[in-house]
Parts: sequence; structure tokens; C-alpha cells
Amino acid sequence: MLESRNISLTTILWQGLIFWAVTFTALEAPYSFVFQTKIHHWQLWVDGIISFMLFIDFMAQILAIKKAKRPQVAMGTIFFLTIDFFNVFPFEIIAHGFALNRGLKFLYVLRLFRMIRIVKFYSFVGKLTVIPKWVKIQMMIVFSIIAIHWVTCGWIYIYPLPAGKNPIDYYVLACYWAVTTLTTIGYGDITPSTTAGRIYTMGIMILGVGVYGVVIGNVASILQAADRFKEQAREKLSDLENFMKHYNIPPRLRETVFSYYSHLLGKRMSDNDVHIIADLPHALQQELQTYMNVALIRSIPIFSSCGESCLKDVARVLEQNYFSPGQTIINIGDIGHEMYIIAHGQVDVLAEENLILASLTEGQFFGEMALLEETKRTANVQAHGYCDLYKLKKEDFLTIIRTYPELKQNIEGVRKNRQRINIKR
Ligand code: CMP
Repeated sequence: MLESRNISLTTILWQGLIFWAVTFTALEAPYSFVFQTKIHHWQLWVDGIISFMLFIDFMAQILAIKKAKRPQVAMGTIFFLTIDFFNVFPFEIIAHGFALNRGLKFLYVLRLFRMIRIVKFYSFVGKLTVIPKWVKIQMMIVFSIIAIHWVTCGWIYIYPLPAGKNPIDYYVLACYWAVTTLTTIGYGDITPSTTAGRIYTMGIMILGVGVYGVVIGNVASILQAADRFKEQAREKLSDLENFMKHYNIPPRLRETVFSYYSHLLGKRMSDNDVHIIADLPHALQQELQTYMNVALIRSIPIFSSCGESCLKDVARVLEQNYFSPGQTIINIGDIGHEMYIIAHGQVDVLAEENLILASLTEGQFFGEMALLEETKRTANVQAHGYCDLYKLKKEDFLTIIRTYPELKQNIEGVRKNRQRINIKR
């Protein structure tokens, strides 16, 4: 998903639509021009629709500038606006309507100014906070196709379609020349026979090195970025392996550590989420953490009747903790300093003789009894599998239930129920 703090999804979709419309023009206009093809009705319709879209976009830009009420509009904005205004005209329809002769057919190609929108789209995408891999790949493919197509059309312009030859076959031949020249392979089976052709070929050869470099460089960086997470994970696991060898860690413990890491990597999380946002200012980190915690506790039944301020107060004081399978979270008889909410995973509540009293899962809580009754822990609690828990310290817990008596009532209800079950057993 594309994301940005200030750019709405509608804007992103609209810009994407214009990008594709303009790409169509970038492919169709030079093709129609070099082959001097008869203009079909559908082409006129498409030209009209694209012009209309560009008109709406132009008006939207003007309105946005007016709304922003900036004292001065930047020169760059004025330049792009002028081109956008020019692009609104449906040149294909105009040229066709006036039945212009061959000499004036260049009017068709004026539509290529619309290409400036592709440049604008690239800079627009650059403003997005997160650019997904598929968008980058799509842009690279479109860029390559347009470059090859233009070079092909340039060749056809210099060496027009010979009489009696099939335009498709001829296009493929010219495209083959364009690709072999742009990729600097140059088999030499198709060579320029005129001065114009030779000059053009030299230009494309020089351009080819740059274009080829840009495409290959970008594709490599996209693939590298996609692999970055796996690479980091691999590095971490290899460090861990060396560590365990060095300290001669017994096989059972090794296995536990490795399987814990696999669990984290499977969820595409770092060993601690906090590290990911560690570079942000403290206030922003807290805001993010609170937001994530509110989302979690809102889904927990006992908090479902709580208001926004209660949820936020609880969310602000929650601390994230991980436990691996079999790990003891609470020991019977200990003094209770905190309670826990289960974010992911399962825990077993065990009585003294390892008798299972209950299995608690996502959204449930435990450790409240010792805090509410000021007694010692009434049961052992063990992680069943890997567990992500949120810890609520005793002082915070007591402050919250004092402030929000309805929450205290809910928790008390659960506690009494649990106590009843335990007494029966
Ligand atoms: P506490 O006594 O602080 O620590 C152990 C916790 O296990 C206890 O709080 C409860 O949260 C939980 N617990 C005890 N008995 C049950 C039960 N029957 N069902 C579910 N949870 C329980």
C-alpha cells in the first residue's frame, strides 16, 4: 500500500490514472506519426478523454493554489502549469477536424508534451513516504518501454516504411535495432546507410549507455531492497550461531533460541519493535506506541465499554514483553507487581500440582488477582507457545481502576469468576 502523511489515496489514484493516460499518448502519438496511419474514431475518443482528464487536473491545481493563498507562486510551478495548460488541448482531434495535410501532422506530436506529466509523476512518487516495490518496478518497465519505443519510432522516421512492407514486421525490425543498440549489444546486422541514420545511431549509442545503466542500476537496487530484510535476518542468525558455538550453549537451549528468532522473523518483526522507531523523537515514539496499544486493548472484552480517555491512559503505560514456550511468567506464591494482557499466543494457568486451571489466549488478561486482593500469586502461569504480552505495572493498574471504576467492576467480575472456579477445584 502506498502511504504518505499528507497525500490522500484519491490523489494517489488520480495521479496514477493520469500517468497511465499519458503513457498511452507517449506510445500512440509517435507511432501514428511515423507510420502516418489513418486516425480511427477510437483514437479521437481516447484523445478527448485524456484532454478532459488533464483539464480537470489543471483546474484542480489552480484551485489548490488559490486555496493555499501563498503570496508568491514558485517559477517552477508556473512553468509546469503553463505546460499543463498547453496539454489540455486535444491536438489529435484538432488536427483531424481541420483535415490537416501531411506537413502539419506534427501537431499530432505536440501531444508528446504530455510526457512532462510522467516526470511530474516520478517526483510525486518521490514525495510518498513508502514506495512499494511493485510501483517502482512498474515505473521502471514503463520507462524502458517508452525509451525503446521512441528510439524505434525515431529509426522509422529516418527510414520510413518501404512500400508493400507490413508495418508490424517493420516495427519489430526497428525495435530489434533499438534494443540491440540501447543495450550496447549491437549485432551489426542492421546498420545505418545514410548520414542522418549514422548521426542518429551515434546519438542512441551514447544515450544507450546511460539508459541501460539507469535501468540496470534501478532494477538491482529494487531487488537488493527487497532482499534487505532477509539479508539482515540471515546475518543475525549467523551471529547468533557463532555466539552459541563460542559459549558452548547446550543443543536444547540453542534450539529454543533459534525457534524464537524464526518466530520473530516469520512475523517480519525485529527482536523489539521499539528499535524500529528508536530514531524518532521521544514524543512521537510514545504517540505511535500509544496508538498501537489502543488498537490492541480496544479489542479486549473488559475494555470494550471504556471511553477513549480510559483506553489512552491504559495504552500509555503498557510495556511489551516476549516469552518463549514453557517459560514461567508468574510463580505461585510470589508477590504480584504487575498484570499482563495477551497480544499474541497462549498461556497456561496451573495450580500447584501442575493441574491446568485454564488456558488463556489473545485478548485475555491475567495476574490481576494478587493486585486487586493484595495477596500472593494464586497460580503459576506459563507460556504455551511464543507469547507477546503487554505488562501493566501495579501502581499504574491501581491508578487506572481508581480513575475508571467501571473498568474495576469489569475486572472484579472476571476475578470473582476465576476465584469461584478455583475454589470448586
Ligand atoms: P494472580 O493470582 O495475580 O496470578 C496468577 C493468575 O492466574 C491470577 O492472578 C489470575 O489472573 C490467573 N488465574 C488464576 N485462576 C484462574 C482461572 N481459573 N482461570 C483463568 N485465570 C486464572
